[in-house]
Amino acid sequence: MLNTLNEVHVDQDGRPTELIAPTDDPKKPEDAFSAKINAYWERIEEARENELYYYFQPVDQIDGAWVWTQGQRKLMFATYSYLGLLKHPRVVAAGQAALEKYGAGTHGVRILGGTLDLHNKLEARIAAFTNQEDAIVYSTGYVTNLATISTLIGRGDWVISDRWNHASIVDGCLLAHGEFKRFRHNDMADLERVLQQAPADVGKLVVADAVFSMDGDIFDLPAAVELTRKYNARLMIDEAHSLGVLGATGRGIEEHFGMPGAIDIKMGTLSKTIPGVGGYIAGDRKLINFLRHTARAFVFSAALPPAVTAGILEAFDVLEDEGVERNRILTANVKYFISGLQAAGFDTGLTCTPIVPIMVGSEERALAMSKFCQDNGIFVLPVLPPAVQEGTARLRANVTASHTIEDIQFALDVFIKAGKFVGVI
Ligand SMILES: Cc1ncc(COP(=O)(O)O)c(C=O)c1O
Repeated sequence: MLNTLNEVHVDQDGRPTELIAPTDDPKKPEDAFSAKINAYWERIEEARENELYYYFQPVDQIDGAWVWTQGQRKLMFATYSYLGLLKHPRVVAAGQAALEKYGAGTHGVRILGGTLDLHNKLEARIAAFTNQEDAIVYSTGYVTNLATISTLIGRGDWVISDRWNHASIVDGCLLAHGEFKRFRHNDMADLERVLQQAPADVGKLVVADAVFSMDGDIFDLPAAVELTRKYNARLMIDEAHSLGVLGATGRGIEEHFGMPGAIDIKMGTLSKTIPGVGGYIAGDRKLINFLRHTARAFVFSAALPPAVTAGILEAFDVLEDEGVERNRILTANVKYFISGLQAAGFDTGLTCTPIVPIMVGSEERALAMSKFCQDNGIFVLPVLPPAVQEGTARLRANVTASHTIEDIQFALDVFIKAGKFVGVI
């Protein structure tokens, strides 16, 4: 019997018997996929040949805000470890202890054999931290948005999303069976226009990033809360870039605006300020129960490994103990960096957070400026269309609490030289 897909002979039980030698010409003929695949291949090859390709750079050492990659030491501006907890000794020790105690993995999906006491503790910890009744942890932040939105929004329901929302929210909306509507970025009049169109008796979910991931601006929570209450809609906020960042204790956008209890559904990632991987939804206990039993990407996907789960649990404690001080340093660094860039004549868009876009306009300039910075010791990356609108290519520099003022001054000097080099300032 020949399994044509793998070109392997298999017996009746599907076990391989002998391998088929490759043919003289192993190339597949061109097919309908080829054009798009080849176009990408050529685009990336060209960038590599011109030494403009800085994606997937392997980091092999980390020392505070500095990293080593391919033999070069660079100052990291492409990290999401906003409070610098990535190598926090307490987090590392907790991960190591859990690895020893539980082993490297779990017995699979949470609903069957995969739940450890650590998972339950983590969900209770997140619920307490976010001031919600309960929480559910998924395997990534991306999956959290995808699964939650597509599970909640059934036929006839409306999901109403800010135009600048993260791809994981957009993909969740696309996967959902209900109506997918968008409102202009952070425009509450436009949000109201959409809410007015929705039938009164359907489920309505308004969803937005707390801090927008490409521009670093903050969602207008007070106005959105008023509208969602007026139109009986639920409000879901993605705190990927606000957890640990907004609010004096890093509790996020509610704390920033002094509005405890304003958000119905809090989403967060465990891969940014919290140095692990995963994502969570915190909300009322009936909603979380519903998701635990019906969200397919939760029910049919493996539990977080014990070392990661324990590290994350400890990171929440560290955040509680050290968040205020780390947040104070982060805020000072952000201010120093943004005002330094603006004084030099850079356009930093709408940001007032650690995500700092340095607007350059064209793709070519973004690539050339990235190369200049990378060659001069700054690990920073360009953000190009379609990730952002045509003509708004930029470098995105993330400031952290690990940077010292000297680090930031060093970076400013390089950015300014680079900006002059490519003619942005
Ligand atoms: C706003 C936002 N939401 C969700 C995600 C996905 O999170 P994760 O990378 O943890 O899957 C990201 C990732 O950058 C993000 O920026």
